[in-house]
Amino acid sequence: MLSSITRASVKPKFMASRAFVSTWNAVPQGPPDAILGVTEAYKKDQSPNKMNLGVGAYRDDNGKPYVLNAVKKAEKLIMEKGLDKEYAGITGVPAFTKVAGELAYGEDSPVIKDNRLVISQSISGTGALRIGAEFLNHWYPHAKNIIVPNPTWGNHIPIMKNAGLSLEKYTYFDKQTNGLNIDGMLEDIYKAPKNTIVLLHACAHNPTGVDPTQEQWDQISKVIKEREHFAFFDMAYQGFASGDCTRDAYALRKFVQEGHQVVLAQSFAKNMGLYGERVGSFSIVCADAEEKARVESQLKIIIRPMYSNPPIHGAHIVSTVLNTPELKQEWLGEVKLMADRIITMREKLRSHLEKDFGSKKRWNHITDQIGMFCYSGLTPEQVNKLKSDWHVYLTQDGRISMAGISSSNVKYLAEAIHNVTKD
Ligand SMILES: Cc1ncc(COP(=O)(O)O)c(C=O)c1O
Repeated sequence: MLSSITRASVKPKFMASRAFVSTWNAVPQGPPDAILGVTEAYKKDQSPNKMNLGVGAYRDDNGKPYVLNAVKKAEKLIMEKGLDKEYAGITGVPAFTKVAGELAYGEDSPVIKDNRLVISQSISGTGALRIGAEFLNHWYPHAKNIIVPNPTWGNHIPIMKNAGLSLEKYTYFDKQTNGLNIDGMLEDIYKAPKNTIVLLHACAHNPTGVDPTQEQWDQISKVIKEREHFAFFDMAYQGFASGDCTRDAYALRKFVQEGHQVVLAQSFAKNMGLYGERVGSFSIVCADAEEKARVESQLKIIIRPMYSNPPIHGAHIVSTVLNTPELKQEWLGEVKLMADRIITMREKLRSHLEKDFGSKKRWNHITDQIGMFCYSGLTPEQVNKLKSDWHVYLTQDGRISMAGISSSNVKYLAEAIHNVTKD
């Protein structure tokens, strides 16, 4: 029932005197997403030579999306089992979280053996970062300050800020060498207020492709320990950097070994090619099993109103691959194959630039960097020229998704880069 006051203020439709004004009239046009916008522009281009080096998704040597054989076989097994479509629990499919934790921390990690790892399935890496940031905002017992590398994956910034953390950047990339500025990094981490949360890319840093060496990770661990900071690892590319999942987990495992109580966002988008399945995990290292139970109860309270529980299909794929020895072997081989193809493209691109086109610029960083991306050092003007003159699409910061290059277009790309950089 409308109250008498409300009723008096409602005019029948035919009496409306003002022109229709939509509720959303004042909503301004937002900018397109920096990465997805590149793909949109690429799709509109009609040139047969066009190249999409924006999106961070693996392509085979024919430039086609690649569904891993281990994944296809796992899906067949899942179909044969005729699983139901019931809801998973809030923290996801247990057979998945078990193997996900083992892959990241190592099967005989003390955090797994002592039953002190809280691990929840998440909506891929992005969702893991978001629930992690929300958890820290609720329960981290110190000021909610996070520092992230400069530069970092663009989405880190709104993910952390939208969850209520206050964000600053630490020195990471050295523009002079196109490599790591380790002294600047250590200094900034050291200078940050005690107990700061430090976001670390576990391997295959996005966008720069520049990772610390193992010795440098040891130094980073020491400084974080000394300043009583807290490490938040983002591992979206395990296996993609070196082709070896154990090697790529060095930093995470080293920190755990050094007694850091880390948290981790893990993704299976890249290393299992499960981009659209949205499968990942968020985990928290606790002191003991009793603490684990308390922390897990609060993580569930955070997740429940966000999305209730995660999708199950991707989790079943990952758990089938990792729990079936032959499929796991095949998958490890395929991860290596993807990483190796990218390394080969790096070598070819550099060699074409230097040997075939005689570029006098320094291109060593193309092969020094690792993982999906090459931070090329191209300026925004050069990026624009690549687009307008050569139909080559990449983000304005000069990041090249190496996975978008194939044997048939690597020379064309080298020619294009040489032309826009030669004077
Ligand atoms: C550094 C980094 N973290 C996290 C992600 C999250 O990816 P997804 O949500 O697709 O797992 C990405 C994807 O590009 C990334 O590059």
